Amino acid sequence: MRAKTFLVDSYQRTIRDLRISVTDRCNFRCLYCLPETEAAANFYRSRWNQNPGIPIHHQWKPKHEILSFEEIERTAQIAVACGIEKIRLTGGEPLLRQNIATLIQKLARIPGIRDLAMTTNGFLFPKYAIELREAGLHRVSFSLDSFDKDNFKRLTGVQGLAKVTRSVQLAKELGFDPIKVNAVIIRDINDHEIEGLCQYALDEQISVRFIEFMPLDSSKAWQNEHVFSGNKILARLQKKFDLTPTQSANASETAKRWQINGAKGEVGIIAPVTEPFCGHCNRLRLTSDGQIRTCLFSLHEHDLKPLLRGKASDEDIAAHLQSIVYKKEAGHKIGREDFVQPTRTMSCIGG
Ligand code: 5AD
Ligand code: SF4
Repeated sequence: MRAKTFLVDSYQRTIRDLRISVTDRCNFRCLYCLPETEAAANFYRSRWNQNPGIPIHHQWKPKHEILSFEEIERTAQIAVACGIEKIRLTGGEPLLRQNIATLIQKLARIPGIRDLAMTTNGFLFPKYAIELREAGLHRVSFSLDSFDKDNFKRLTGVQGLAKVTRSVQLAKELGFDPIKVNAVIIRDINDHEIEGLCQYALDEQISVRFIEFMPLDSSKAWQNEHVFSGNKILARLQKKFDLTPTQSANASETAKRWQINGAKGEVGIIAPVTEPFCGHCNRLRLTSDGQIRTCLFSLHEHDLKPLLRGKASDEDIAAHLQSIVYKKEAGHKIGREDFVQPTRTMSCIGG
């Protein structure tokens, strides 16, 4: 493809960031995403007098519906030709996809990608870390919501804290940079850990992002009361740490950031619920089964498979992407009467 046909929506937002979910499967059962454990049900029951039950997990997508590496690579090439500069691989858990390093190698070769990143829960990272680095992965974000092994288990369904902290160490040794940890903060479950998680990042010279709980959980148990707001997170951090706001060079950044005096890493707060940043959103998502989503909260998806598997040329697909992006929604409606939670959970959409 030659001509640059940018992906611009009807609100004049230019899309630069593509998130690719490579699998809908996950080896964790996080309370805010796939709350399918007894502990998750107990949490909602005991603290909030809710009875979400334990949802039976939606069927995993059959293999023939999952995009092949070649299909993902082609979509990425076309997207990059249309101005995408940043690609993040997500899941489910992306390291559950077989031979994921091969895909990274293919993507890293595409000229025009400035940033190739992955979000992982870190459990399988030690097994693949060297391969991933050699394949050309630039950076990695780990989900880490608790620094207490029992609370970690309650939150994720897996006894995995030691594994994840070891993964962070290993990522440092291998030169991934920057390294971030993402902590979704839920009121009464891990809000008491905010300072501890920040101290961990400080000690490890990495960055930490605190994220508000969004309504993307499989049991649809989310309620506004569960949200621990970005403002409250900041107030708590400011009591303990000396924070200096960082000027953002990039308006579409989701996190507000602070430098901790004397530290290499920084603190970010992502507050999509209480302070939506939709007006500057530059993201587009591709699910593992080939659906384009223009928003995390879209109620409608656009299947690319018929084009990828039919006779469509790259130009046809680029034009299709453009027309999809043009219809990107203004933003989410969380907190409004007419908000409808999407059927698919974060594990299918990709963070
Ligand atoms: N709300 C906020 N963040 C979420 N994530 C997953 N589910 C939710 C949710 N309901 C984030 C986790 C993970 C990333 C992939 O998505 O932080 O790191
Ligand atoms: Fe972007 Fe949608 Fe999230 Fe808003 S809600 S930031 S538009 S993905």
